[in-house]
Amino acid sequence: MSRRALTQYLELLKQSGIQQLYREPVKVLTPLDKKALLESLAQKYSDCDKCPLAAGRLNLVYGEGNENSHAMLIGEAPGDSENKIGKPFVGAGGQLLDKMLEAIKIKREDIYITNIVKCRPPENRNPNTEERLACLPYLVEQIQIIQPKILLIMGLVAAQSLLGNTNTLSWHRQSCHEFMGIPAFVTYHPAALLRNSNWKRPAWEDLQAFQKEYEKLL
Ligand code: URA
Ligand code: SF4
Repeated sequence: MSRRALTQYLELLKQSGIQQLYREPVKVLTPLDKKALLESLAQKYSDCDKCPLAAGRLNLVYGEGNENSHAMLIGEAPGDSENKIGKPFVGAGGQLLDKMLEAIKIKREDIYITNIVKCRPPENRNPNTEERLACLPYLVEQIQIIQPKILLIMGLVAAQSLLGNTNTLSWHRQSCHEFMGIPAFVTYHPAALLRNSNWKRPAWEDLQAFQKEYEKLL
């Protein structure tokens, strides 16, 4: 991890109230340990009220998928369908995401999918800084448990939040970044692709770059 990326990462953790987590040694967890731990944490946080998004929550959308996957996909926030069902990317954006993954020969069940905030923002507005920082420790914890080797960050809001900058999506798409020392690719959010089909081609290029690195891990 570059010095700059490390400084950004530590600052992000500090702002979100995590002082201790990253100093703990990484534990070796079996697949069953990981599954049980994630289930118990999802349950534990289901009544979280650390930020105002709790008010609109029907279901906390913790994340789902293969807790042993080398790859983790990180979106922005639950929408209406996700809030109702309690799972990530189940609405129209989710259907497009499934197709995008299929195109790079990845099944949804193969990977782990989550978001930077676990509760739905009202009217699907972007989660604000307070909400992002309040929820970040949950994502950090998920990453520590799952220990993915590659990340795919979907959309500008998630990219700016995790990579600690205010650069454009084009800037983020140009190269592979790092979050918590893990290589992190950035692409368009599926909802953005539903709004503008001109972005499908560049998104396809991003996915192919991601696929190439992911397949090296298998
Ligand atoms: N958009 C996201 O970013 N995440 C979801 O889970 C659903 C829609
Ligand atoms: Fe808690 Fe995250 Fe939901 Fe905010 S968005 S209430 S921090 S789980």
